[in-house]
Amino acid sequence: MEISKNIKYVGVNDHNIDLFEGQYTVPEGMAYNSYVILDEKVAVFDTVDAAFGEEWLGNIKNVLAGRGVDYLIVQHMEPDHSANIEKFCEVYPEATIVATQKALDMVVQFFGGRVKIENALAVKGGDSLSLGAHKLNFVTAPMVHWPEVMVTYEECEKVLFSADAFGKFGALDVDADWAYEARRYYFGIVGKYGAQVQALLKALGTIDVAKICPLHGPVLEENLPYYINLYDTWSAYRPEERGVCINYTSVYGNTKAAVMKLAEKLEELGCEKVVVNDLARCDMYEAVEDAFRYDRAVFATTTYNGGIFPFMREFIHHLTERNYQNRKVGFIGNGSWAEVAVKTMKGMLEGSKNLEMVEQAVSIKSAMNDKNVEEINLLAEELLK
Ligand code: FEO
Repeated sequence: MEISKNIKYVGVNDHNIDLFEGQYTVPEGMAYNSYVILDEKVAVFDTVDAAFGEEWLGNIKNVLAGRGVDYLIVQHMEPDHSANIEKFCEVYPEATIVATQKALDMVVQFFGGRVKIENALAVKGGDSLSLGAHKLNFVTAPMVHWPEVMVTYEECEKVLFSADAFGKFGALDVDADWAYEARRYYFGIVGKYGAQVQALLKALGTIDVAKICPLHGPVLEENLPYYINLYDTWSAYRPEERGVCINYTSVYGNTKAAVMKLAEKLEELGCEKVVVNDLARCDMYEAVEDAFRYDRAVFATTTYNGGIFPFMREFIHHLTERNYQNRKVGFIGNGSWAEVAVKTMKGMLEGSKNLEMVEQAVSIKSAMNDKNVEEINLLAEELLK
């Protein structure tokens, strides 16, 4: 794949992976992107996952057409991008590794003495490196998504090599909606670091970018403001759309029945969008994505072991550790004796910034009764105010 006459794609698609980063389901696979700039000097951007070393080295060899490599630019040391540094150095011992000092420290941590960094070039934000006509400008991007990360702006062709930023789940030979899998990827992986993503967007704000080359997902070159605005919305923790995302667990179907009643009422009252997630059965990270996507959420669960059902506890932890905020939230609790579900859920969320908790909660004793139906109707009305 050509990014341009002098910038080539040499990444790989992974359709064998079961869980990305050990936890995210990726039914459409994953892409580990890598790029080569051919100029007076030759630079390779990042390596790929351990399982694809030979294929990746073959891709590089094909585009080099007999040339050597002057620089290996290491933007991020997470192993999905760094696992082949050692193999690369065996094939191209003349190449200089270019990375932040923190990344070089991690090279030693991951590879010990097997990768020599004595001749590496440690760069800081604001440093640049000429390849000839192409000039690389380095911008540090700590915690997007690890502390050693940098992104690189190539000013001759106005290409931003954005590391994990603007990436998505899914291999490149699968035609999938960008936002759907980019949102799940963003909130799953980078969601905690909104302030750092905002800082990066600010640093990039004055740069004229024509193409974004991330380490996952497609190269972005049309309608860039669409992608940049979504990243701004997500990282500022602003809701992306109006709608109510109802998240529930239900052991015998009674809590589910209340949830369905609420969904029905919300739709009857004209709610823009109602999404219902069964946390025990759906992809947890799709539910996390929905919670950040919509401006309102409902949490419905049963009392369990003096607290709440495990899937709900896990879900709320996923939200709070990603700085869930700026939303309106409501609650449905169930318990056949000593119902503490609502109180427990509210307590878990009380440290979250700018959450408007709807006063009207629904408290079910075993199964929904007429009083609960009234409470559900009032909750729906409150959510739509
Ligand atoms: Fe795609 Fe943070 O590695």
